[in-house]
Amino acid sequence: MATMKDVAKLANVSTSTVSHVINNDRYVSPAIRSRIEAAIAQLNYTPSALARSLKRQETRTIGMLLTRSNNPFFSEVVQSVERNCYELGYQLILCHTEGDKQRMINNIGTLLQKRIDGLLALCSETHSIPAEIFSSYPSLPMVMMDWTPLSTACDIIRDNSLQGATIAVNYLIAQGYERIACITGPLDNTQAQLRFSGYQQAMQQAGLTIYPDYQAEGNFQFASGYQAMQTLLALPKRPEAVFCCNDAMAIGAYRAINQAGMVVGEDISIIGYDDIELALYLNPPLTTIHQPKDELGQLAVETLLHRIQHKDSESHVLTLTPILTERASVKKLLR
Ligand code: RIB
Repeated sequence: MATMKDVAKLANVSTSTVSHVINNDRYVSPAIRSRIEAAIAQLNYTPSALARSLKRQETRTIGMLLTRSNNPFFSEVVQSVERNCYELGYQLILCHTEGDKQRMINNIGTLLQKRIDGLLALCSETHSIPAEIFSSYPSLPMVMMDWTPLSTACDIIRDNSLQGATIAVNYLIAQGYERIACITGPLDNTQAQLRFSGYQQAMQQAGLTIYPDYQAEGNFQFASGYQAMQTLLALPKRPEAVFCCNDAMAIGAYRAINQAGMVVGEDISIIGYDDIELALYLNPPLTTIHQPKDELGQLAVETLLHRIQHKDSESHVLTLTPILTERASVKKLLR
């Protein structure tokens, strides 16, 4: 494989001149530039990323920890993160954790050995990363997306889940519903707790009864929504509307409702949370709370790159605004 020295020799210039042409970081006369570019083409030379990173003390690589990708919320955010990394000249290395703490620790170690310039975490786990793992990289720039239980200082970007849940339940109440149930996320997760609190607050403020049997705990995954809805439908007096704390569980709930011979938006109303792309294509299309996933991905990358270039700047908590997206899974009651 040709080296920079081979290019310099063929073009009869110094290696530093070749470097200036490759990095375009200093003026080089058109005649010499074209000689060097011709030599690069003739030798099919490709600059060494490793050599460049050693010189620049940066790899232009971002690491990302992700719980799982089978939930469309996460995969849609990752798509936005990777697109923004690419547009800003960075590579993304993605590692899953799937709730396994040791796997998380091992993946962080691997990412650190690859000398990533910064770390993004989009994890719904609740166990935090032990601070000692960063002991040899104390100033590693980090941005936590959505997941907050961290001891080390870092920027945090998250959804305003309390507000979003309140909007969802107030919408059901405004459509005339009183017997409203909640399929929660895993209640050891910060966002899930806040959404359940938003449900409770909205019900209390409207003077409506919160029936204990109407709280069904899920884990943000499809199957838990299916199982929780089966439980709710088996109650002697089933709910007339259900707030599912994410769209994946709402999709599971749809299956249980259909299997019971009932129709969403007719026999029972459902509102979800996240507004994943699939929500529009359900039958009926799902009314839900929109989380700005593209913006979350873009903001996370921009915040991390700012942190990389300004390591000593103070850390921030950025909160995104949830928005009601009204479709057809909630019928207006004429009481
Ligand atoms: O759907 C997955 C959920 O986990 C999302 O609502 C996101 O907020 C994360 O907490």
